[in-house]
Amino acid sequence: MSKRITVIGTGYVGLVAAVGLADFGNSLIGVDIDENKINTLNQGIPTIYEPGIGEYLKRNIKAGRLEFTTDLDNAIKSAEVIFIAVGTPPKDNGDVDLSQVTSVVKSIAANISEYKVIVTKSTVPIGTNKWIKETIKKESGFRDFDIVSNPEFLREGKAVHDFFHPDRIIIGHETEQAKEYMTDIYRSLNLIQTPFVWCNIETAELIKYASNTFLATKITFINQMANLAEAINADIHMIAKAMGMDGRISPKFLHPGPGYGGSCFPKDTKALIHIGESVGVDMSVVRAVIKANEEQKYLMVAKLKQYLGTLHGKSIALLGLAFKAETDDVRDSPAINIVEKLLEAGSTIKAHDPKGIENFKKFYPPPRVNYFEDEFDAIDGVDAIIICTEWNEYRNLDLERAKKHMRGNLIMDTRNVLDSERTKKLGFIYKGIGRN
Ligand SMILES: NC(=O)c1ccc[n+]([C@@H]2O[C@H](COP(=O)([O-])OP(=O)(O)OC[C@H]3O[C@@H](n4cnc5c(N)ncnc54)[C@H](O)[C@@H]3O)[C@@H](O)[C@H]2O)c1
Repeated sequence: MSKRITVIGTGYVGLVAAVGLADFGNSLIGVDIDENKINTLNQGIPTIYEPGIGEYLKRNIKAGRLEFTTDLDNAIKSAEVIFIAVGTPPKDNGDVDLSQVTSVVKSIAANISEYKVIVTKSTVPIGTNKWIKETIKKESGFRDFDIVSNPEFLREGKAVHDFFHPDRIIIGHETEQAKEYMTDIYRSLNLIQTPFVWCNIETAELIKYASNTFLATKITFINQMANLAEAINADIHMIAKAMGMDGRISPKFLHPGPGYGGSCFPKDTKALIHIGESVGVDMSVVRAVIKANEEQKYLMVAKLKQYLGTLHGKSIALLGLAFKAETDDVRDSPAINIVEKLLEAGSTIKAHDPKGIENFKKFYPPPRVNYFEDEFDAIDGVDAIIICTEWNEYRNLDLERAKKHMRGNLIMDTRNVLDSERTKKLGFIYKGIGRN
């Protein structure tokens, strides 16, 4: 049976969950404190760039299954199931800032008076769901509710596809009733035989951190292998391909680059160290990953300096600001660290990104960085190009035209998206990653 669901937080995760759960036939209210966001969403206009989301948004609003509001109290009262999908950003010390979750939990406690299932989709440290349960009980005096940990694994840029075709659904729960509710909500996924992992709450919470940290480790490992391959005249693409043929390894997440970024891996790896330390468990592998990843980002700038002699007074075109292709999300993007180092060294930066410019401006407003809608305007008169994101437009960059626009002839391709031989033949100095 379909359920009345409220999703709190309509960011990258909450919005996708809201439209997806509505599309499964549930009746959905999406809540956010950001009034502009809510007004825009109620008009059927997506507030993030995510391929495919607009169509689902319009379709479900039109079908009367989906609406958005800032009225959290009523949205809590009317829901049978509440999904918490607010942000859990890092604090300066790497620990998790749970203030958005805390504020939502207080609102739930103030408005609960009949049975509800409270589901946490936000990535939260181990013990948070139990804390949510105790806090609601203490503040409301009400006990007839269940908590569920249902961590999210979507990839930005492929989030809609991932919602409808998940590799697995993880559900940490305590009661049969909560299990029945979650089974109902996700019933549509039975058609594609999605595996469900039913476990206790702590296990579900840790599955999320363990998965993200493992992927961050895999990326960091291949980046170090790429650096080694470069030093010994080997080709990282052949190495990754051959490694990936081993069924135990799998070819995914073996692409070298400028270091992992985004709103999840950097914060979740740091949080896992705090979680481990809080119970006296050594997290030295995770520590090493974070350190190597930081170094990888700065290595890109060091290489640029090596080829240009000095960075002072140089004009650099930065192609790609988003932390990966097909998203406008620039949170913890390697481009941020690269810009920081280039500015420190006295370079001027001309930046382009198909979708990420507006978000990047919040970190580096013009004129600290100059932004261009057309990549050839960004390339015009520069000494070097650094490609930071694997957008298809850069893969298919008109290099002959680029050559005419540039003052220099260096291309640093931190994603190996260009054909190195062809680029060199056209007279560029080409520097990729992990191949000479
Ligand atoms: N972005 C991803 O790829 C991804 C993937 C898996 C898990 N996660 C996790 O999901 C959670 C959400 O991430 P996100 O990227 O969607 O964050 P986000 O910052 O894009 O969205 C959070 C939203 O919550 C809203 N919000 C904050 N406080 C609120 C309140 N009191 N009431 C109502 N709305 C409130 C904000 O206005 C914002 O729209 C995080 O814990 C994150 O770690 C993210």
